[in-house]
Amino acid sequence: MFKRTTAINKIKKMEARKKVVQGSTSAGKTHGIIPILIDKCIKERGIKVTVVAETVPAVRDGCVDIFKSVMGDTNRWIEDHWVGNPMEYTFGSKSRMQFKSFDSVGKAKAAGKRDILFINEGNHIPYPIADALMTRSKEVYIDFNADEEFWAHTEVLTEPNSEFLSLTYLDNEACPEEILEELRIKKSKAFLDPDLTEEEGLLHQSNVKDAHWANWWLVYGMGRVGSYSERRIYQFSIVNEIPEGVKRVPRGMDFGSSPDPTILIDAYVDGVEIYFDELFSENNLIPEKLEGAERKSVVDRLNEVAIEEVKKAHPDLVFDQEDGFYLEKEGKDDTEEQKRIKGLIRNYKAWMIVGDSSGRTQLIDMREHGWNARGVKKPKGSKFGGITQLRGYSINVTKRSKNLIEGFQSWNWKIDANGKIITEPDGHEPDGLAAARYIILSKPVW
Ligand SMILES: Nc1ncnc2c1ncn2[C@@H]1O[C@H](COP(=O)(O)OP(=O)(O)O)[C@@H](O)[C@H]1O
Ligand SMILES: [Mg+2]
Repeated sequence: MFKRTTAINKIKKMEARKKVVQGSTSAGKTHGIIPILIDKCIKERGIKVTVVAETVPAVRDGCVDIFKSVMGDTNRWIEDHWVGNPMEYTFGSKSRMQFKSFDSVGKAKAAGKRDILFINEGNHIPYPIADALMTRSKEVYIDFNADEEFWAHTEVLTEPNSEFLSLTYLDNEACPEEILEELRIKKSKAFLDPDLTEEEGLLHQSNVKDAHWANWWLVYGMGRVGSYSERRIYQFSIVNEIPEGVKRVPRGMDFGSSPDPTILIDAYVDGVEIYFDELFSENNLIPEKLEGAERKSVVDRLNEVAIEEVKKAHPDLVFDQEDGFYLEKEGKDDTEEQKRIKGLIRNYKAWMIVGDSSGRTQLIDMREHGWNARGVKKPKGSKFGGITQLRGYSINVTKRSKNLIEGFQSWNWKIDANGKIITEPDGHEPDGLAAARYIILSKPVW
């Protein structure tokens, strides 16, 4: 029987145009989205909703079945309003819900525009098809179990009008008992002590009984992005934004000697949780601000960020001058508003940035331009020490942190000829991760 679950309540609260709903198995994702779509079809007149899955049988045995059972349970199903081929239901409001699958971009384009699109099990749909459908939809829902990172993470979530929700079976009060039992069985295949919490070290290497089932649990039990390979150096989660009430720590910065990117990240800590937020990653920056230089310098890019972030944090402020004006010292002719903006930017620049001490030129130039930059001390062995220390935290990365996400995802330990893991990083530290490590190395000053 249909129930109002926590999963439904959480999905209903989502506001962005593209709603990305990731989750464990049986989190109530699909049973949450379909009733929300039904509700919209009843309340709004003449809207068109398209539900898409990988194949026609997949959509018929999945979403169509759920649709019919919810409509039946709530005494709304009228047989005459259903057409079986193509599968479509027309409500009294003249709103329509159609169930489809697409095997080509051309067909996806030809299907025209719609009000709402639901892509069920989005990781099974190729991006070009999904993109053609999303482009022609006012509102989009995507659900999936994240076996691995795919276009919902790399393309959709990095767009501004998108939102992320992760659900687990614990959000589904209607989860059938046999599924709960299966989950318990698999969890005990994965871990030596399956009753540990994450903070107590559930996912810790020393608690992993079987890497395959540990990865399975991460994806299908915890609703995370599958990455649990014993070879992965860092496990991490994606968050929409930095939560309230966490402690701010210094910013971290890595200087890429051209053409490598220079990266700046903000960081916050709450107990064992650490949060990273990428402010920029840019290639080809010159180390020092030079009059008349054609390329942007590190300081130029930092100044842009200061202005962008102050604008974002204070949408009420009126910037009536060119951006460069606000980077100058206060003048006696400045208005109160201009003084206030200059003060906020000065404050923004005053937050400590820890950067690679070998970037002397950059650090000096940053200080000369009012940035609170320090070189991080890197004693011998500090790289490995930093990695170990960072691994001790439960790492969270904001969804806009494209380079950090790619970096955390792609860095592995080496394996020897017998396939045994050696705790030695395989290849270069990816862009951005050094900046995260410098933050950890600066812990004594937090
Ligand atoms: N709102 C609900 N009312 C009744 N049963 C539900 C509801 N949500 C989920 N369920 C039950 O939980 C099971 C898993 O939900 P489902 O939405 O299919 O999970 P997911 O799409 O996250 O894998 C369903 O088969 C159904 O038995
Ligand atoms: Mg589902």
